[in-house]
Amino acid sequence: MMIQIAVLGYGTVGSGVVEVLNTNKDIIAKKAGEEISVKYVLDLRDFPGDPIQEKVVHDFEVILNDPEIRVVAEVMGGVEPAFTFSKKALMAGKSVCTSNKELVARHGTELLEIAKEHHVNYLFEASCGGGIPIIRPLHSSLTGDEIDEITGILNGTTNYILTKMIQEGSEFDQVLKEAQQKGYAERNPEADVEGYDACRKIAILSSIAFGKQVNFEDVYTEGITKITVSDIKYAKAMERCIKLLASSKRVGEDVYAMVSPVLVGKEDPLFSVNGVFNAIFVHGNMLGDAMFYGSGAGKLPTASAVVGDIVDEVKNGSTDVMASWSSEKLNLTDVKKARKQFFVRVQGDVQKDLDEVKRIFGAVEPIVIEDMAGEFGFVTEEMTEADFEAKSEESGKVISRIRIRHAE
Ligand code: HSE
Repeated sequence: MMIQIAVLGYGTVGSGVVEVLNTNKDIIAKKAGEEISVKYVLDLRDFPGDPIQEKVVHDFEVILNDPEIRVVAEVMGGVEPAFTFSKKALMAGKSVCTSNKELVARHGTELLEIAKEHHVNYLFEASCGGGIPIIRPLHSSLTGDEIDEITGILNGTTNYILTKMIQEGSEFDQVLKEAQQKGYAERNPEADVEGYDACRKIAILSSIAFGKQVNFEDVYTEGITKITVSDIKYAKAMERCIKLLASSKRVGEDVYAMVSPVLVGKEDPLFSVNGVFNAIFVHGNMLGDAMFYGSGAGKLPTASAVVGDIVDEVKNGSTDVMASWSSEKLNLTDVKKARKQFFVRVQGDVQKDLDEVKRIFGAVEPIVIEDMAGEFGFVTEEMTEADFEAKSEESGKVISRIRIRHAE
């Protein structure tokens, strides 16, 4: 028996999916119980000379109307036309799997419901953490747990940039330019460097972990564009590094979700996650701590996760393998109420201005960097974001602030 599938989009991930299916053909056939063959590749372009050229179609209806196609891998990216194609495929009784975090974050709830109605599957392991298995563990393996925290380095581009800034002491703009030249950052890097990509991913992971729909637009998001070499110097003096963390946390009845640069200490497992690697730290009430680490982006790691979903869909046909989240919205608590410690840089002279800083922020110890005259730093006690903002306004001297993470 042979199962015919269609791949929507022959870009980086799409060509990776074809490569994984070819390279691991026999082992995949054994695991799926049937040989998997790509019958169609949907793309606007033609690929003369490429072995898939004869499979290229430009009209999605060809795939939709072919009853032989039971599984569709949507790896086009972007919301449209991926949304329309996925919806139509599911309604036609075809399972769909995807690496498209934008689409899952925006319309995942609806697509999961349509899949359920039509007794097919909508899987998206590749949408978060690239090749790292994280969706399945959260949904299938940690079912005995109440998850109370997910904190991840979920974006390879920004982790690469921050790692380089720390290692080389270069400014953000320069490192970004180099990253773009080497292909580690997109020509339009906004979604990565402003934290939007990590925001979508944490919204997806939180929806699974907490069982209700987390709207990505509700997640407080800050990127890394304002991080400077001066911030890095202080981080080094504190034996910490700066990471863009995407986090959701249950505190009593409240759930906080946030993407922002955070100072991470040596004792934290996220400290050593460098370069383009991703890691997702999960805390469960029975599990305690777990961390999932690996290749969070790139052609073959991402394609590997997509192919894992294809095999699951081939094997399981109409059995629902993905418990979805409820369409009920999870109301996130205003991050202004979240309690944090903050590292703060203020203008002034440590001899003259420390007393004033202490009056406003409490008993803090100054951190002075030799070649940085006219300013000093300190770490606050734990306080709410709202309190910090009020104190910062009262001081009028704050240059920048970075949140601090404590590994429990
Ligand atoms: N731009 C993303 C990243 C790709 O850097 O992690 C993977 O989703």
